[in-house]
Amino acid sequence: MIGPHLLSLEDLGTEGIVEILNVAESFAEVERRTMKKVPALKGKVVATVFFEESTRTRLSFETAAKRLSADVLSLSVASSSVKKGESLKDTLKTIEALGIDAVIIRHRSSGAPLQATRWLEDIHVVNAGDGWHEHPSQGLLDAFTVRQAWAQAEGVDAASTGSELFQGKRIVIVGDIAHSRVARSDVLAYQALGAHVTLCAPATLLPPSVEGWDVEVTTDLDGLLADVDLVSVLRLQAERGSGECVPSLREFTNSFGMTAARTAKLPPHALITHPGPMVRGIEIASEVADDPRCLVTTQVHNGVAVRMAVLFLLLSGGSMAFTDGEGS
Ligand code: CP
Repeated sequence: MIGPHLLSLEDLGTEGIVEILNVAESFAEVERRTMKKVPALKGKVVATVFFEESTRTRLSFETAAKRLSADVLSLSVASSSVKKGESLKDTLKTIEALGIDAVIIRHRSSGAPLQATRWLEDIHVVNAGDGWHEHPSQGLLDAFTVRQAWAQAEGVDAASTGSELFQGKRIVIVGDIAHSRVARSDVLAYQALGAHVTLCAPATLLPPSVEGWDVEVTTDLDGLLADVDLVSVLRLQAERGSGECVPSLREFTNSFGMTAARTAKLPPHALITHPGPMVRGIEIASEVADDPRCLVTTQVHNGVAVRMAVLFLLLSGGSMAFTDGEGS
């Protein structure tokens, strides 16, 4: 179903997404053991090559690879030969020559991971965020997190529900949608799973076209709050010029920030997610970030199991015989 690369959630479809979420549930169970490591990818080598800053994604992929017993190489671009003018192609060909099995790439340019698949032979490529395009593992971990929360609320086993719990759910994605690769991956994941998605942003922070996206679009966040199951909050991407798109940060927060007053208007069951990094006081109030209904740290925690599932399915050929070791 998945593979040979993970470049976009568009390539997976509903079945592929559900397969990854279900395999991730098995790895979440492994994570609850005292011995969190399984030998599934022993002998494989995974490299992380990040041309943009990251805290969560990089650490999460590296933790995931280590929990699967893979060897991990981590290229620090800031102290690499990229600084001497080496091209992306030559950097990747150099890493390939070391004999790696998978490369996890973050790059400021949309399409860089796809381009990497054309240069590299017999290496799995994972997109860890490319420009404004996609952040597929974030979309997967967001879907995993909310499915698990909804399953827990209903007292059912998440893996047995497939995409069922998303049917009829109302999801609002609010903030800087234009510059957000997370927004694109979240829309693809939530729609594939059957949820109803509304995008909420000032016109200047919407993509030039949402043609082909089966979403509603509004600027009225307050009008949505009473009838929503999930609010997915996005950061203003100052590094991509979002500051130019709003009159002031205060005005953005006034109209589109997830404030304590807005959180109070949500139905009691509604959840809040944020991919991080958060800018407290701008797109999300500090007390909302710390509210139990805000799943931001659960998202980070679940990212490891989801990325274990991605690496496992790409690199192992999908055999589920990873449970050697403690427990079953
Ligand atoms: N959510 C996310 O991609 O975070 P990092 O930039 O810290 O990896």
